[in-house]
Amino acid sequence: MKFYNDHFLSVEQLDPNSIQSLFILADKMKKYTDRQLTSKVLDGAILCSLFFEPSTRTRLSFGSAFNLLGGSVRETVGSGASSLSKGESLFDTAKVVSHYSDVITMRHPDKYSVNKFSKGSTVPVINAGDGANEHPTQALLDLYTIHKELKTKKKLINNAHIVFIGDLKHSRTIHSLCKLLTHYKGLNITFVSPDALTMPLQALDELYDSGVIINQTYHLEQSFNCDVIYQTRIQEERFNSQEDANKYRGIYRLNQSVYQSSFGNSGIIMHPLPRDSRPQANELDTDLYPLEHESKKSNLRIFEQSNNGLAIRMALFIKILDVESSLGSNDQPVIWKTNR
Ligand code: NCD
Repeated sequence: MKFYNDHFLSVEQLDPNSIQSLFILADKMKKYTDRQLTSKVLDGAILCSLFFEPSTRTRLSFGSAFNLLGGSVRETVGSGASSLSKGESLFDTAKVVSHYSDVITMRHPDKYSVNKFSKGSTVPVINAGDGANEHPTQALLDLYTIHKELKTKKKLINNAHIVFIGDLKHSRTIHSLCKLLTHYKGLNITFVSPDALTMPLQALDELYDSGVIINQTYHLEQSFNCDVIYQTRIQEERFNSQEDANKYRGIYRLNQSVYQSSFGNSGIIMHPLPRDSRPQANELDTDLYPLEHESKKSNLRIFEQSNNGLAIRMALFIKILDVESSLGSNDQPVIWKTNR
């Protein structure tokens, strides 16, 4: 992927060099995400953010990332609030919205809808999640988190053992992350899911062809020796009925006791969030979150993931709008004070 002026619709567009260059740029974003400096490289640019499905992290972090670079954000949330509800085609909406913006982020419940939309857009479109298909920027921030965490242990992503748990059939974050993992060597991946919610066959084939050793199991009550545990939500909005989704709710509950018995208290714990914390699900128990004074000891990395999303999304905007060479030239120290 050359990035400049490209749509970013699938992680399949990325090769190892483009991933590495994004991570290097994301590392440089710390001074902005930590609010030491403000940048104006996107001064005058407009991001139009179209979210036709619920979102907290993805929508707000795309917006904050753009604001931190000096750009402005216009947004519409939910299909009821846009002219799609009046029967307008994605193509027509794209024709109109792209005239108002310099880049567009879009989330939609239908697979490949963002691709369709991009055909009508005259500005770059970034896929913020299209149905159960892909979630490319989440996969990048997840991979970036894994990369940073393993680096602190002097390890590489190569040779890592990763355990994915939950609704693997519908999890677009895992679908995209697994495509990225095909670029690495010596990986061992265990998929834990009910039979009805296993990884799509094509995704398994791609992993197998790239040399990944794959294990599939239904049981969480066994002994895993892994670097990363990636838990997911039962994606109830993708099931035929709530009743159908309820059959799987709470099927895998990762808590301190399971973490100890199945994982020997080792391996970082990730989740794209939101975690379903209602009692009937409680898929990632708050007992894994340490008491304040123990924070250094916890292996939970869910909030690092969402924080890393800001740096990754800033890096992506910088590359797609081609302002990397101007970065730093007009930086200003922040003048407000908060107790972060
Ligand atoms: C995920 C998504 O929307 O696919 N959330 C996110 O963007 N961080 C995961 C989910 O909703 O379960």
